[in-house]
Amino acid sequence: MKIDILTLFPDIALSPLSDSIIQRARDAGLVEICAHNLRDWSDNKHRRVDDSPCGGGPGMVLQPGPLAAAIRELKGEGTRVILMTPQGKQLKQARCRELSSETHLLIVCGHYEGIDHRIVETLIDEEISIGDYVLTNGAIAAAVLCDSIIRLLPGALGDSQSAIEESFSDPSLLEAPCYTRPVDFEGQKVPEILLSGDHAKIAAWRMEKAAERTRRNRPDL
Ligand code: ADE
Repeated sequence: MKIDILTLFPDIALSPLSDSIIQRARDAGLVEICAHNLRDWSDNKHRRVDDSPCGGGPGMVLQPGPLAAAIRELKGEGTRVILMTPQGKQLKQARCRELSSETHLLIVCGHYEGIDHRIVETLIDEEISIGDYVLTNGAIAAAVLCDSIIRLLPGALGDSQSAIEESFSDPSLLEAPCYTRPVDFEGQKVPEILLSGDHAKIAAWRMEKAAERTRRNRPDL
């Protein structure tokens, strides 16, 4: 898979993708990630790429010229062009899974008030939000999207972690609480059933606790 990220802040986008599991996936050649500075497509000597919103209002809007030039240059046959924006469709695990089978993603990061809507209408395939809150810029959201996709590429997680990913794929249920040693921590004991070795009972306990946690934390699921 190839991922191009178009942003005003390439370092912010790349930093979380340059360590641990994602860096290992990059080293293993599972994914190639390139971050590009939108200012490289500016048509003026000040490298400006934004202007004030038509109709008035606060903030700045990314101009269509540099965005169009950059997207046209970076996009190829079969590229999926995604815009990170709080106005997008909220990202869910199922969409991450679908996107992990694409061959080329071009992720465009919004900034300030957003990007000129003519670009959204003509050159963007899909608008994605990572949640109902506003970040300072889309590069952070792009890194979140990349992480959620890359960890699903075959070989990115170790075998044991892949198995865990499989067994918790029910989108309507949160995971059950988990424990490790010591069995007694400051007087708080690990639930006895988890030490019983009875796998059927453990599975039933986990299901019950997962349902309890889901009702308490995510009744919407
Ligand atoms: N840019 C700013 N906030 C965002 C969000 N919640 N999702 C995607 N991109 C964003």
